[in-house]
Amino acid sequence: MAALNSNSFYHRPESKFPPSLWGDQFVNHVSDSKIAASMSEYNRSREVEAFDATKSGVKGLVDAGIAKIPRIFIHQDYIQEDKTVCDLSVPVIDLGSLSNNRGEIIDQVRAAFEEWGVFKIVNHGIPTSSLSKAMKAVKEFHEQDTEVKKQYYSRDYLKKVVYNSNFDLYTNAAANWRDSLYLIMAPDPPTPQELPQVFRDPMMEFSEQAKNVGISVFELLSEGLGLKKSHMLDMGCAMGEFLACNYYPACPEPNMTLGFGSHTDSGFLTFLLQDEIGGLQVLHKDSWVDVPPSPGSLLVISGDMMELITNARFKSAYHRVVAKNLGPRISVAFVFRMHLAGSGSSQLYGPIKELLSENNPPIYREAKGEEIVACRYAKGIEKTPLLWYFKLNNIQQP
Ligand code: OGA
Ligand code: NI
Repeated sequence: MAALNSNSFYHRPESKFPPSLWGDQFVNHVSDSKIAASMSEYNRSREVEAFDATKSGVKGLVDAGIAKIPRIFIHQDYIQEDKTVCDLSVPVIDLGSLSNNRGEIIDQVRAAFEEWGVFKIVNHGIPTSSLSKAMKAVKEFHEQDTEVKKQYYSRDYLKKVVYNSNFDLYTNAAANWRDSLYLIMAPDPPTPQELPQVFRDPMMEFSEQAKNVGISVFELLSEGLGLKKSHMLDMGCAMGEFLACNYYPACPEPNMTLGFGSHTDSGFLTFLLQDEIGGLQVLHKDSWVDVPPSPGSLLVISGDMMELITNARFKSAYHRVVAKNLGPRISVAFVFRMHLAGSGSSQLYGPIKELLSENNPPIYREAKGEEIVACRYAKGIEKTPLLWYFKLNNIQQP
């Protein structure tokens, strides 16, 4: 694997093209893919650039009244897929009785992460009013005057506030029907002035509360693995905070694209809040399972960093969002994740020693939080699992 050369990437503000952290290997990989095949039919990169240059995202297309989705959004694999979903439900864990039922809740949390990599939490203590204020702020941001919103449009991922459509627009084989606003909240938060006006109070409030719930979940997971309650927190798992504020406009051809293609999240844990439109699915034993909206609940998702530190005892969960002709759909993902360069981001994380043995040798090497995130930005969402690049013995490409 090519060595990480962070400098070549961090200092390219506004660069249209994703960082080539991984050298030519990556470029070849992409040109071998479906993109190359479709290039003969039309000039994909020109269309991608033209779409990006509008700085108005998918919402801009819908506002312009398009009846067919542009080709860059067509997910060929999804069109061909059998879209039957599995009739199961993700585990639901009631955190309301934590003080007198801790042992049982620890068992539920461990079982849910071992079997699913996700669980819904109810009675988590975040007031419904904070959740709805956060969702309302996201809607208002995306629906404000386009010219004002454009000021935040960027692909410079060193900024703490970035709005764009498809963070991986230039690497993905097919674009997703979604616009997003990304905020880096910790360890080095934006000043209130850096945050868009509609965001200041609601997002500060929501992230504070999500962090508190997150701390409880890290404690439950640590105990579930037989470790000290503070083990994951002491490792620095809750140091980085990242918010993805997603806006999925109604789609005129929902069977031809996806709101968010199948992926794992790169951090330790994600706390996901979705509105009443639905469309979220989780992969369970090779089948997609719907995660219907349930007001007031949050979905906890195990990410790649969690898989790395637990040596794959808690695997990261694949999830996606199908497109709908209903909308807009709003979601907020609060992710415990390091960012690129910045305070604390060079901390190393590796498989927890207490979990390793002769029969359970380390699968992954130690990695900086920023390396994993940089890899995600460089590669976008592709078929090769992100953690494959951090395996100790990754001789064979999966
Ligand atoms: C994400 C994500 C799902 C959703 O932001 O990583 O998976 O429901 N979002 O928007
Ligand atoms: Ni996700």
